Amino acid sequence: MVEFRVANLDDLPRLSSKILNSLDPSSDFYKENVTMFGIPEGYVKRAFSEGALRGAASEGSKFYLASEGDEILGFCQMAPQGGEKAELERIVMFPGYTGRGFGSRLLEFAVKDQAREGMGEIIVYAGKDERRARAFYEKNGFEFTGEVSVDAPWGKRIDLATYRLKIGRDIGWRH
Ligand SMILES: CC(C)(COP(=O)(O)OP(=O)(O)OC[C@H]1O[C@@H](n2cnc3c(N)ncnc32)[C@H](O)[C@@H]1OP(=O)(O)O)[C@@H](O)C(=O)NCCC(=O)NCCS
Repeated sequence: MVEFRVANLDDLPRLSSKILNSLDPSSDFYKENVTMFGIPEGYVKRAFSEGALRGAASEGSKFYLASEGDEILGFCQMAPQGGEKAELERIVMFPGYTGRGFGSRLLEFAVKDQAREGMGEIIVYAGKDERRARAFYEKNGFEFTGEVSVDAPWGKRIDLATYRLKIGRDIGWRH
């Protein structure tokens, strides 16, 4: 049975290895999130290292897992932005587990938890041409708020679409 839960610090080494091992250049995740933005491989490896995940957690990021037994099937990361706003930094279902509703359930679990923590709004940035991720956010009630062009830390200019989901403390999941 697939379960959804908040990750604890002990989960982070396992999560980091799972992500690094699944960085297969032929996967959707790689093509849509790494190749598309011209992100150097070394940068990606550092971004998903155990140290980077721990660092993010110590700065307030909360990680959520979809798992079955000992196997991690997917994860999502929410980072506080000050006030009642949090950013959905990333959500990934690992290869073999996409398109089966798990990503939506993981997102719902994480959003409800953020609502319980007092958040009123979740924002997310998607690549302007990241068609599938954008469809996923739209299907899950996120509202398109605009487009921005930013200088990425790896030295490229990238075009992003911005989305927001308003949530309520009382019901947790308001479209
Ligand atoms: C985006 C992602 C988390 C969605 O989770 P999921 O479990 O595949 O999504 P669900 O089954 O809950 O919802 C399916 C919807 O998501 C969208 N979608 C996005 N990527 C998809 C994929 N690889 N396979 C199937 N559906 C996908 C479609 O709109 C689909 O709607 P449809 O079934 O009506 O066509 C997952 O597909 C994934 O990890 N993709 C690669 C990583 C990525 O791009 N992450 C987002 C940026 S960090």
